[in-house]
Amino acid sequence: MTILPVSFYDSKPYDRQAFEEASVGLALDWRFHEFRLGEETAGSAKGAAAVCVFVNDRVDAPCLKMLAGLGVRLVALRCAGFNNVDLRAAAAEGIAVVRVPAYSPYAVAEHTLALLLTLNRRIHRAYNRVRDLNFSLGGLVGFDLRGKTVGLVGTGRIGRVTAELFRGFGVRLLGHDPHPEVSWAADIGLEYLDLEGLLERSDIVSLHLPLTPETRYLVNARSLERMKPGAYLLNTSRGKLIETKALIAALKAGRLGGVALDVYEEEEGIFFEDHSGQPLQDDELSRLLTFPNVLITAHQAFLTREALSQIAGTTVRNLLRLRDGGPWVEGTSL
Ligand code: NAI
Repeated sequence: MTILPVSFYDSKPYDRQAFEEASVGLALDWRFHEFRLGEETAGSAKGAAAVCVFVNDRVDAPCLKMLAGLGVRLVALRCAGFNNVDLRAAAAEGIAVVRVPAYSPYAVAEHTLALLLTLNRRIHRAYNRVRDLNFSLGGLVGFDLRGKTVGLVGTGRIGRVTAELFRGFGVRLLGHDPHPEVSWAADIGLEYLDLEGLLERSDIVSLHLPLTPETRYLVNARSLERMKPGAYLLNTSRGKLIETKALIAALKAGRLGGVALDVYEEEEGIFFEDHSGQPLQDDELSRLLTFPNVLITAHQAFLTREALSQIAGTTVRNLLRLRDGGPWVEGTSL
């Protein structure tokens, strides 16, 4: 059996475990690197037929040119989003790009709900207080979700599961999507609106759409102005969907009730690493962290056992197709 060498970037112990388990006996030679792939590090792919990358590796035109020069034939994204790969440059260099278009949407949808419930009921603050033997309740008042209006921007796989989870709380559901799922919406009782209408009517707005040149800064000063005073904003999709400067201005003005983020505009180089011993160099992230009504997790919505094992399984199948000459599985080729 031909052995396929694969350079694996931004690897963490949980990735290693999931990918090694998914490839037992399959002749994939993993070369795990803890650093990220980019133009500066692309030389490390020497001898590899494929590279396996995640959300914050920067697979731009100069990086792809170097990879092509080294004989790399495939970029295998171990995630759904592919905004960090220059697809046109990849095609020009003759490098195929595959991703994991679908894996446990429950992981991300459940994390979205976890963030909202934590933020609304101040669980993060209460937890710290109680551990400090402070059993007072001042400042911990939340609201009932029942009867509130939730607007989902993007009703693809994750948006739909999120809507179904929200339904259990007795909320009213609004959606915005250029490709509406009309019969699903009718079944679940979700009303589609244009973005402006959704922003104006929602008590909670949750983003579940990809980052593209068109959706970059979808949430900006104008859209934030349109949101109900005191509304909550949730983003478990991609950081650049929100213009952070405008978000900070809205928070400073007290216009938003709460903001929960699993992603951040400039997360690359910050998230996934321990920076606790150093001064934080990102002033906007520092500012966001000072607001009592902002809750941030570091891009962990995907991080469940089930999702990791599905991501590893699909990526391994994609790599075996490269070794065995295609075709790509489940339409994953981009
Ligand atoms: P999907 O492709 O199933 O659904 C995306 C939906 O967004 C589609 O229905 C599409 O029509 C819609 N859409 C596109 N442009 C839009 C616009 N301008 N306004 C409103 N809707 C728009 O994707 P899926 O699986 O639901 O994932 C959504 C996003 O979640 C991904 O693109 C990715 O960025 C993010 N994600 C985040 C993770 C995390 O760990 N935080 C993990 C996995 C995905």
